[in-house]
Amino acid sequence: MAVAFRLAAAIAVPSLPAPDGLMVGYYNDKCSNVETIVKDTVKSFLDDDITKGPALVRLIFHDCFVRGCDGSILLDQSSANPEPERASGANIGIKALEVIDAIKANVENVCPGIVSCADIVVFAAREASKYLSNGGIDFAVPAGRLDGVVSRASEADQYLPDSKSDVPALIAGFATKGFTPEELVILSGAHSVGRAHCSSFSDRLTAPSGEINLNYRDNVLRKGCGSPPANPTLANNIRDINASTLGNLTSYVVPAIGGDYLDNSYYKNNLKNVVLFHSDWALVGNSATLAHVHEYADNGTLWNLDFADALVKLSKLPMPTGSVGQIRKTCRSIDY
Ligand code: HEM
Repeated sequence: MAVAFRLAAAIAVPSLPAPDGLMVGYYNDKCSNVETIVKDTVKSFLDDDITKGPALVRLIFHDCFVRGCDGSILLDQSSANPEPERASGANIGIKALEVIDAIKANVENVCPGIVSCADIVVFAAREASKYLSNGGIDFAVPAGRLDGVVSRASEADQYLPDSKSDVPALIAGFATKGFTPEELVILSGAHSVGRAHCSSFSDRLTAPSGEINLNYRDNVLRKGCGSPPANPTLANNIRDINASTLGNLTSYVVPAIGGDYLDNSYYKNNLKNVVLFHSDWALVGNSATLAHVHEYADNGTLWNLDFADALVKLSKLPMPTGSVGQIRKTCRSIDY
């Protein structure tokens, strides 16, 4: 009896939309292949250029933290909107929009006008996380979002965190979106992959010994960045710096399956003072966050699960009340 009841419940639940209106399997009866199309398209891009994976993981954060998950990060600058979100300095380095464009085009071919760009951003982030973690990070995506029609650089400035901030400011910023200090720590682990411009960590080039491993500072960061105005990008994770640059720092490198492997190495590196941003390092200097850094350094499986849950929570951030929504024809511009 108990088994029969549980089976009935398991069958009934997916057809009920969650209170936020999103639903796992939302496209099952509207565009049943959408998740396969996203998966195949992401895989073909990442097989060719893995750096697009971290970019897709970052994209969900930068979309959802500003006006909710509404594809507002995707909108191009136009005469009608000269200052969209991507014009904000906080969006430096945003890329891989061509992956979203390709997914949208492939989806439109089979089910035109059905799938929002906002949902594609979330599906793509899931696929990229799964790819970069060799399947370790995975989650069901509740879908049914609409695309917004508003995108303002000033709102990206306001809501996206600054890599030169201290923990109280980071905690306050995450709290405005309903995220706890623990979730700040969990989500920051995304910095185990990807790259950053030297301007994003210029303060670290002169950070004192208590805040950064000086060998890392001088031989990796200073050497890698050169002098302004050059503003190259370096790997977020010391693991992904090439071995010839690392010299005797190789002992700090947490072994991984390959470059851009999304895992808990970020926390292990953080405890050794070899992370890139001030906002990363600051998590070990604050009692509200340090215990969680230890927790995830010690338990990579737990981080995989908690990171997946945090991305689902991020994906549920709603548009501001009263916003107009649509399904755009192309992701870079709104439909009038
Ligand atoms: C805690 C506050 C955070 C701050 C201050 C921050 C800041 C930054 C900065 C400055 C960059 C480098 C941009 C550049 O110079 O090109 C970056 C890269 C990145 N961030 Fe964050 N970030 C934060 C949280 C997150 C979260 C929550 C995620 C995702 C869940 C994320 C994922 C990434 C990824 C994957 C990259 C590398 C992107 C690439 O290689 O294309 N970050 N972040």
